[in-house]
Amino acid sequence: MSRIDLSASALSPDPATDQPPQAVPPAPVRGYAVAPGGTLVGEIRVPGDKSVSHRAIMLGALADGETQVTGFLEGADSLATLAAFRRMGVAIEGPARGELRIRGVGRDGLTAPAAPLDVGNAGTAMRLLCGLLAGQRFATTLVGDASLSRRPMRRVTEPLARMGADIETTAAGTAPLLIRPVPRLHGIDYAMPVASAQVKSCLLLAGLYADGETCVTEPAVTRDHTERMLATFGCAVRRDGARVCIEGGSRLTAAPVEVPADISSAAFFLVGASIAAGGAVTLPAVGVNPTRVGVLNILKAMGADIAVENPRQCGAEPVADLRVRSARLRGIEIPAEQVPLAIDEFPALFVAAACAEGETLLTGAEELRVKESDRIAVMAAGLGRLGVETEVLPDGIRIQGRGGAPLAGGSVDSHGDHRIAMAFAMAALRAEAPVLVQDCANVDTSFPGFATLAAAAGLGIEETPA
Ligand code: S3P
Repeated sequence: MSRIDLSASALSPDPATDQPPQAVPPAPVRGYAVAPGGTLVGEIRVPGDKSVSHRAIMLGALADGETQVTGFLEGADSLATLAAFRRMGVAIEGPARGELRIRGVGRDGLTAPAAPLDVGNAGTAMRLLCGLLAGQRFATTLVGDASLSRRPMRRVTEPLARMGADIETTAAGTAPLLIRPVPRLHGIDYAMPVASAQVKSCLLLAGLYADGETCVTEPAVTRDHTERMLATFGCAVRRDGARVCIEGGSRLTAAPVEVPADISSAAFFLVGASIAAGGAVTLPAVGVNPTRVGVLNILKAMGADIAVENPRQCGAEPVADLRVRSARLRGIEIPAEQVPLAIDEFPALFVAAACAEGETLLTGAEELRVKESDRIAVMAAGLGRLGVETEVLPDGIRIQGRGGAPLAGGSVDSHGDHRIAMAFAMAALRAEAPVLVQDCANVDTSFPGFATLAAAAGLGIEETPA
């Protein structure tokens, strides 16, 4: 299976065809060596929101007219989405310093790609594209890297099949996904068994191509970026409590998209500055969409000193400047309703829990087992290497905080999971010996430049060859 090439040359359009080659030498695998102690201070501008960046490409491509995007995340995941749409005939200028111009081809203007679309490590790209492509008049194959090829896809292919889609998975219900054209899709009224914004968004995008109305009911609140952006593009979805509906046949009209800084990337610095002696950091213009702020609520409940300043709108999304100072954290029982609102931030939150006074208990988070890695098992293993006692539960974890005692140093394996790599880099702020983090190349999927930014703020981090 081919891999995504992240080099600038591979991603810049071929002037003749406006198509990037999809060939793809593997990214160099590297680790982090992080010196113990240190602190985090100053203003840290984290890159654009990954979820919003994916959606900006998708909706911009399907819109009538030209969409200008600012603040786009130039990370491997969102660049994979960008490359996929170029291969389906969409002309996209950029990215240059987060700016893009997408010449929308309209709802029915995509063309068949010449080869399978490789979305690398990006679960959001694969699941949302699966819905969007189910209603096209051409066949597509979606492939991903080894991690994505292990992740469950039936959660999208089953409801899409109920809409009339024809999608083949492996026997295990995983990618590659072969999506064949069908005469028509029809709207369904679907109660999602798992709280997943990817499933919800997949079905809403398929619903654009379906007869009648497509409705999705979520068992708990999940991120609503798709709904907000659809409204910006003139296609308001109807929400009635936990149920959201889209009218088939709706058209999208190009509109500017401003991408806020990613709260999921800010999370590492929220935790790092909280646990570091003398930590004092400001993170400007971070997205504080109410469906994403679980990390703020949980850290505050643990005693973190976080101020949410200058709240304002950034296009359809609320943003604020986050100011965080070092604080003594205490372990808590994480409230069930915060789990989907913080689903990507648990690796960082587990490090906060490891440094807190007393026990932290997380339950109701079985979804963590099917992220880029099994985040419960992988975090428990790494915390163990750093001398932290944990008890792994089927749907969560119990973490005995070390309080005033330091973490041990040691070598931890991120298993190629970007968020686990960054979380353990932050753990060094409270360790008594260096922390070596293995297999960190995938940090580029969501946070290119992480090590440089963290080093500038005071973390003793160095990138190491494989
Ligand atoms: C995302 C939804 C979440 C999240 C992922 C991004 C999205 O996944 O973990 O990183 O952009 O819709 P689930 O839908 O699987 O919860």
